[in-house]
Amino acid sequence: MTLLIVGATGTLGRQVVRRALDEGYNVRCLVRSFKKAAFLKEWGAELVPGDLCDPQSLPPALDGITTVIDAATSRPTDSLSIRQVDWEGKVALIQAAKAAGVERFIFFSLLDAEEYPNVPLMEIKRCTELFLEEVGLNYTILRLCGFMQGLISQYAVPILERQAVWVTGNSSPIAYMDTQDIAKFAIRALSVPETENKTFPVVGPRAWSAEEIISICERLSGREARVTRMPLNLLRTVRRVSRFFQWGWNLADRLAFTEVLVNGKPLNAEMEQVYQVFGLDPQATTTLENYLQEYFSRILKKLKELDYEKTKTKKQTAKRSPMKK
Ligand SMILES: NC(=O)c1ccc[n+]([C@@H]2O[C@H](COP(=O)([O-])OP(=O)(O)OC[C@H]3O[C@@H](n4cnc5c(N)ncnc54)[C@H](OP(=O)(O)O)[C@@H]3O)[C@@H](O)[C@H]2O)c1
Repeated sequence: MTLLIVGATGTLGRQVVRRALDEGYNVRCLVRSFKKAAFLKEWGAELVPGDLCDPQSLPPALDGITTVIDAATSRPTDSLSIRQVDWEGKVALIQAAKAAGVERFIFFSLLDAEEYPNVPLMEIKRCTELFLEEVGLNYTILRLCGFMQGLISQYAVPILERQAVWVTGNSSPIAYMDTQDIAKFAIRALSVPETENKTFPVVGPRAWSAEEIISICERLSGREARVTRMPLNLLRTVRRVSRFFQWGWNLADRLAFTEVLVNGKPLNAEMEQVYQVFGLDPQATTTLENYLQEYFSRILKKLKELDYEKTKTKKQTAKRSPMKK
């Protein structure tokens, strides 16, 4: 079985590659930049050039492929819009996979996508789910919410650096999951026939509010957070204004996501049956406390070492300095 992983350089995609290689699969990655993807080659994956927005590049990448795992999404830093990558690009990928006779297609969607028709990324994910079901490919859809990896730049780093931590009023609790755990579900789906042509939520052990996460970070770092509340109406105004300018469409589409994060409804789902179907152990899933604990102990140890090195160098320089005499 040879897998084509799209979005392999991303936060989730790289964990899917790692897991697939660890489990002995042949892995090919469709990448936009060989330089950026060099680490995947070092791990043992094959790289092929390609871009979801260049449909001609897809058939050669799919040659000899039995399974596609799609972990791509438009980057906020890219000039390409969510519509171009997450809709037009995905339609092209699904059609090319169908034409190439691919046996399985794993797609990462968003939890509760059907409940937010006015949020572009949610609506695009819902439409892609429908398209995948209609096209007749053997699919598995995994519906995700937040990644634990995102908490580092959102909360942990600003707290460590005594920078402002931005929160919106009344933010919804989210059942964050470690991308390594999500990757386990994606790869396990390949060997469990009961997951074929089905859609599953894949979310973390419990939903956490922004305040709860900040409090854990404060405890683990020993530093107090400088919390700055972003008024929701300000975000809505920025979104409306940015819609007037083409360069702002991507920004406006992303800000629309705020509506999902502030409606107070937890982003969470019942997972007991999902673990049973996939034959995975819920106890082996990383908890948010453990994830953050591991991060802070690693980073605080590093900071201590740096501090020690700095003091040592200072002492040595002071000893050598002729000015001291
Ligand atoms: N992040 C979250 O919290 C979250 C939550 C729920 C669901 N998800 C879903 O999980 C999946 C993975 O998200 P992520 O956060 O891991 O993504 P990410 O880190 O932003 O990575 C995006 C990936 O897509 C690739 N990509 C972007 N545009 C492309 C194009 N035109 N052609 C080919 N590849 C392209 C990027 O390649 P380059 O390296 O070349 O840019 C990168 O590998 C997505 O389906 C996303 O919707 C994410």
